[in-house]
Amino acid sequence: MLDMNRIPAHVAIIMDGNGRWAEKRNLPRVAGHNAGMKSMTEIVRRASDLGIKYLTVYAFSTENWKRSKEEVGGIFKLLVKYVDLELAELCENNVKVRIFGDYEGMGDDVRDRLERTLSDTGEDSGLEFNICLDYGSRDEITKGVRAIAEEVEAGKLSSADITEDTISEHLYTGMTGVPDPDLIIRTSGEIRLSNFLLWQCAYSEMVFTPVLWPDYTPEEFEKSIEEFQSRDRRFGGRK
Ligand code: IPE
Ligand code: IPE
Ligand code: MG
Repeated sequence: MLDMNRIPAHVAIIMDGNGRWAEKRNLPRVAGHNAGMKSMTEIVRRASDLGIKYLTVYAFSTENWKRSKEEVGGIFKLLVKYVDLELAELCENNVKVRIFGDYEGMGDDVRDRLERTLSDTGEDSGLEFNICLDYGSRDEITKGVRAIAEEVEAGKLSSADITEDTISEHLYTGMTGVPDPDLIIRTSGEIRLSNFLLWQCAYSEMVFTPVLWPDYTPEEFEKSIEEFQSRDRRFGGRK
């Protein structure tokens, strides 16, 4: 049973397994990504209903550009469609949507459409939903380090004053007031982080499930949270 008094504040998800889901059905990979978008919609709703404050999903990595043009284009099209279709409803549910990542390379059309719809999303009193798009943790850290170096060069910051908080504040999460994730979930049975939130995961609990992302239902999501609730978080200290 879920303990509603111990719902994690920030859940992050590596939504993996769309391609294998499609292959199993002899469908094109894009069909798997389409099914994955539907899963994402349901999980966002359940996260909001459970009172989770922050949900961050990994939708497209800086390394995913290695895939075929067809697959990459298909993923972007689906994302724009999802954001357009679902956004009105998300706003009504008081969900604030933002993108983490430098989606410059996704082309003017995709960028403009995303920006137009995102500018309509409301203020954050409910769930804050972060979509990592063209996101890589090393890229995020590199950009943060560069920005800190520029502040030092400009005389706005002394190198002696750089703390862990300075670094956190220069990442997408810290810049937008999003705390480190309490729980990171990865679907599809892979046991790795694939360049996701490497700084922020220092004390996150990890849950790996063999379920492929398109098969990951809100019930599975609750099971992952139950597993999180069974963990003993010590943060290096002692009971
Ligand atoms: C996750 O599913 C979605 C993205 C990485 C964009 P995959 O497309 O990686 O699916 P598998 O891992 O090949 O099954
Ligand atoms: C991680 O999945 C990225 C996303 C889910 C967006 P990948 O499928 O790209 O990761 P690897 O290649 O299995 O590590
Ligand atoms: Mg994958």
